[in-house]
Amino acid sequence: MPANDFVVTPWEVTGKVDYEKLVERFGTQIIDDSLLERIRRHAGELHFMLRRGIFYSHRDLGGIMNEHEKGNEFVLYTGRGPSGSTHLGHLMPWIFTKYLQDSYGAKLLFQLTDDEKFLFNEAMSHEDTKRYAYENALDIIALGFDAKKTEIFLDTEYITPLYEIALRVAKRVTFSTAKAVFGFKNSTNIGSIFFTSIQSVPAFLESQRQGRGVPCLIPCAIDQDPHFRVTRDVASALGYPKPALIHCKFFPSLAGSDKMSASNTESSIFTTDAPEVAGDKIMNAFTGGGATVREQREKGRKPVECSIYQYYYYVFEEDDEKVAELSRKCKEGEMICGECKALLAERVKAFLRAHQRNREKAKDRLEEFMLRD
Ligand code: TYM
Repeated sequence: MPANDFVVTPWEVTGKVDYEKLVERFGTQIIDDSLLERIRRHAGELHFMLRRGIFYSHRDLGGIMNEHEKGNEFVLYTGRGPSGSTHLGHLMPWIFTKYLQDSYGAKLLFQLTDDEKFLFNEAMSHEDTKRYAYENALDIIALGFDAKKTEIFLDTEYITPLYEIALRVAKRVTFSTAKAVFGFKNSTNIGSIFFTSIQSVPAFLESQRQGRGVPCLIPCAIDQDPHFRVTRDVASALGYPKPALIHCKFFPSLAGSDKMSASNTESSIFTTDAPEVAGDKIMNAFTGGGATVREQREKGRKPVECSIYQYYYYVFEEDDEKVAELSRKCKEGEMICGECKALLAERVKAFLRAHQRNREKAKDRLEEFMLRD
């Protein structure tokens, strides 16, 4: 891989991601102003993740807007591969999904792929992935999704309705397509090769249930797009509408790399971290501040290169003016890294305290959301 290149697949994100280039590589489209304007009209206000281009790419979003404008319903579908605790990066697309549910009154299907993480992760037993699925479900519920409009399921616990559709998908996807899209090798286990059929299913589930084409919109980070290229390719032949997608960029790690990833626990903040521990991770984060306070006050910094600034930008400061102010103060050396980190640490701690309280309450509400065979 050349030094300035990058890789984005559902299982690997490496290098410095060039998001514009990724749109070209994947063949998706940038969300343009006219689409933004339509969402603003429907939703009353644009989510800051749309205003800031964090959700920035799509497939067929215009089609979903057309349906909505005609008074037709659509469903939302998203998911989680339960390989560990939830981190803040995972929450980002889910927070946005909740905005879509609230704004459009849409039903949400939430898939927990306990099968995927068992198949793809050598070290994990199925008991592990199932346990994490239930742990992760608490985070989803804690975000405040509408119980009447949200169905959460583990693949292995809801397999009967899924399997029949998965079979029909699988029959239309060749090994050479799976290799080309996901980079599988001859040594890949055959469960992993089949898996994408299962991830396709919820995009078709509501259509299958209602016996008519129900449009589906999938919010996710752009790493999941390859699965849905396959889903879209087989949709028409199976008699279902192609699902639309809306993609976000990656919430960065505290180490300054592009994607927060569970494999590096020190540079990721988990929803189950004790607030003080999360605060310490932030205080220890790499910011590349000036060698001395004086130097930083004189020269300022580049906020776009700083993970702490990105945290405000991506999740922890919804007010655009305040973000702009933060950026200015950083560039002009008015706010130095230590202060900026301390402020963020307080916000993240407050967020975690509230989220953890909601997570506790979610334990009594699981059954309102879970779907089983
Ligand atoms: P998983 O568990 O890797 O990720 C769950 C969701 O979080 C997104 N994501 C991120 N978003 C922003 N910043 C990050 N650093 C970050 N890391 C992960 C992912 O794109 C995803 O939206 N196979 C899937 C589970 C799944 C799914 C779906 C996801 C099943 N059906 C439908 C999206 C839509 C997985 O392992 O996701």
